[in-house]
Order: sequence, then structure tokens, then C-alpha cells
Amino acid sequence: MHSVLITGGAGFIGQNLVHAWRAARPDDLLVVVDAMTYAANIRSLEPLIADRCILFVKGDIKDGALMRRLFDEHAFTRVAHLAAESHVDRSIVDPEAFLQTNVLGTFTLLKAAHDAWRSSGTIDGARFLHVSTDEVYGSLGPSDPAFSEASPYRPNSPYAASKAASDHLVRSFVATYGMPALITNCSNNYGPYQHPEKLIPLMIIHALEGKPLPIYGDGSNVRDWLHVSDHCDALMSAIERGGVGETYNIGGGNERNNRDVVGLICDTLDGAFAADRGLATRFPSCPAASGQSCRALISYVTDRPGHDHRYAIDAAKLDREFGKRRSTGFEAGLGQTVHWYLDQEDWWREVTSGAYKAWIDKNYGFRIAV
Ligand code: NAD
Ligand code: DAU
Repeated sequence: MHSVLITGGAGFIGQNLVHAWRAARPDDLLVVVDAMTYAANIRSLEPLIADRCILFVKGDIKDGALMRRLFDEHAFTRVAHLAAESHVDRSIVDPEAFLQTNVLGTFTLLKAAHDAWRSSGTIDGARFLHVSTDEVYGSLGPSDPAFSEASPYRPNSPYAASKAASDHLVRSFVATYGMPALITNCSNNYGPYQHPEKLIPLMIIHALEGKPLPIYGDGSNVRDWLHVSDHCDALMSAIERGGVGETYNIGGGNERNNRDVVGLICDTLDGAFAADRGLATRFPSCPAASGQSCRALISYVTDRPGHDHRYAIDAAKLDREFGKRRSTGFEAGLGQTVHWYLDQEDWWREVTSGAYKAWIDKNYGFRIAV
């Protein structure tokens, strides 16, 4: 049994990880700390909070005193660190928050964990998992080999640079202070609870509302898509079985260019509307409501500055050490995801309107304790 801290647990991957962890290891004590930025949403965690299955703390990882107090109160033996500013486009417009949270925040959390574990004499059995991204490795050409754990760091966006800096800090804590930490670098996730600013939910929601589907540049950029449930599975394996100081690349083996991803979303929506007449009543602005294809909305727009062309992951080390467990094929996973957003209209309308944030600010104080 472990006492587990999950930072960023109200974000997209964090919420999925909390549910996956709770299901896989019901005896562990789970504490979620999240600053509740625009990207957070704890609706899916509320039943767990109400049933006292998890403890939720609204707090900032940059707050060193709070982080240290949480370690002292809960004697964590596992940390899954996901809290971050995560959206590349936002990092281009306003990079400072990325440096603050991803670099200084990670440093503050590392220091609190290290100080607490050293002073309690529990450092040997503890693990700190730093959840990072394949974007630290930069961009691949069409025929380059996939990123391995030995690939050089060449971050191109302020987001990627801030994550690279945080990876280096983790590495330095391992080498210098004997911190029992490890790092995972993962490719693009998709699935339930992803914020509508990211490619897949953005395209689904725009299509339902009859808005243009903005593909950057010529849409030839390639991402390696991984279902979030497979990522969470790999994270739980890494924290339990991974070696201290090791890095593990996590990928889906599903390289797709953005044109194809958006085309597949359109085709899935067209099929869903043809199969369910009720969708036309709920989403009358969607072209599929009048028998047109959603593809009519595709619009090629100005490219993202510094846009990485291709990411691909060589996950051989992960497969070798933990067994190959990725179970979600991309077409099936994307279909499920499109249907999740069709079924969860209230969730995304609340997120896109800002009503959720106002509700959280009003109803949730600094801390909810069991
Ligand atoms: P997200 O933006 O959906 O969630 C991030 C969460 O962190 C939010 O709930 C936010 O409120 C919280 N947060 C932000 N600043 C904070 C602070 N200062 N203190 C406490 N909490 C704070 O992001 P995500 O997509 O769930 O990504 C989670 C982690 O996984 C990030 O570290 C990201 O870099 C990494 N990652 C994401 C992907 C992906 O495809 N989404 C892929 C690889 C790695
Ligand atoms: O590779 C892992 C990374 O994947 C994570 O570390 C990041 O946190 C996560 O946000 C994601 O970064 P990307 O920049 O790849 O994801 P995004 O969904 O923003 O964009 C995916 C691709 O789609 C990218 O090539 C840009 C393109 N795009 C995106 C948006 C939002 C468009 O063409 N149009 C859009 O409107």
C-alpha cells in the first residue's frame, strides 16, 4: 500500500490516471494537488472526493511550504508529477507561465519531496515519476528513425523548452542528491476529458457547431497518437517497476498526419449522424445534420511558428521492460473519443464557456480535506 501524490490530477491525463489508479490499486491513499487553472476540471473526480476515495487539494506546486506540508502530513511514497502548462500554442503567445510552472514548479516540488524523504529517512523506498513529452527531442524528418531514449534534446517551442528544462532538473536531482526519480517522455494523447483547445476535441466540437476546422499549414505534420488509457497503464508500470534515473519513451505506434486525423474525425461524425437522427436536432449547425460531410468545414490556416514536422517514438525499452500492453487501436480509440464528446455535451460546453471555472472559484476553497 502506498500514499500517492498526483500533481495536475484535475487535468486531462491526471483525471484519467486518478481513475485508473483507483481502479487498479484501491488500497492506496491518493492525494490530488492541482492549481485549477483554465485546463482543470474535477467534475469526474467529484464522486471520488465525496466518497472519500481521494483527497483533493487546490494548490500550486510553486508553493514550497504547502508542498512540504503535504509530504509531512501524508508521508507520500509515490509521486506522479503531471502538473504543467501543456499547450504549445499558448506557450508561443505567453511563455512565462510555462517557465514558472514547468521549471520553477517542478524544482519546488522536487526540493520538497527530497527534503521530506531525506528527513524522514524514507527516500530509499520512494519514487518520483516525472511525466514529460516527446517534444523535448524536437522534430523528425519524414524518414528519420523514431526518437529513442538516447535522442538528443532539441526543443523548439517554449513549452518543449520548459519541459526539457524540467527533465534536466529531475536528472540533476538523481545524479546530485540521489533522488529516486525517473522520467517518461510520451507522444500525443487523446481520449476522454481532453481540453477543447487540443487538436482532436477542437475539431470535434467545431464540426458540431458548424465552425471552420483550422488545419495549420498544409496538414502534413505527423503525430504519434496514444490513447490516454494506454499512457496511464504505462505510467503505473513505470512508477512501480522502472529503474531510478531511467527514462522511458511511451508512444502509440500510430503515426498519422493532421489531414488524415481531421478527415477521420469528419467521417466518424458523418457516420454517427447518419446512424442517429437525434444528433441533427441536438447539433443543427453541423453539416452532417443536413446530410453534408463535415469535411466541407476543413480550412487550411497560417502555420504554427516553429511547428515540429513529425514525432515518432521507439518504445522498445518500455515494451522490453514492462511488456507490450498498448491495447487501443487508433481508429477504434478515435471512434470512442468522438462518441464520448457527443455524449458529454454538458462537460465541454461548461469548459468552453468558462462557467466551470467560475463555479470552482465560488464553491471550492483552498482545500477540501477528508
Ligand atoms: P492539462 O493541461 O490537461 O493538465 C495540466 C493540469 O496541471 C491542469 O489541471 C492544471 O490546472 C494543472 N496545473 C497547471 N499549473 C499548475 C501549478 N502551478 N500547480 C498545480 N497544478 C497546476 O495537461 P495534460 O495534457 O493532462 O498533461 C499532463 C502532463 O503530461 C503534462 O506534464 C504534460 O507535459 C505531459 N504530457 C502530455 C501529453 C499530451 O498529449 N497531453 C503528452 C506527453 C506528456
Ligand atoms: O507530443 C506530446 C505533446 O502533444 C504534449 O506534450 C502536449 O502537451 C500536447 O498538447 C501535444 O502537443 P501538440 O502541439 O502536438 O498538440 P496539439 O493538439 O496542439 O496539436 C496537434 C497537431 O495538430 C499539431 O501538429 C498542431 C496541429 N493543430 C493543432 C490545433 C490546435 C492544427 O492543425 N490545428 C489546430 O487548431
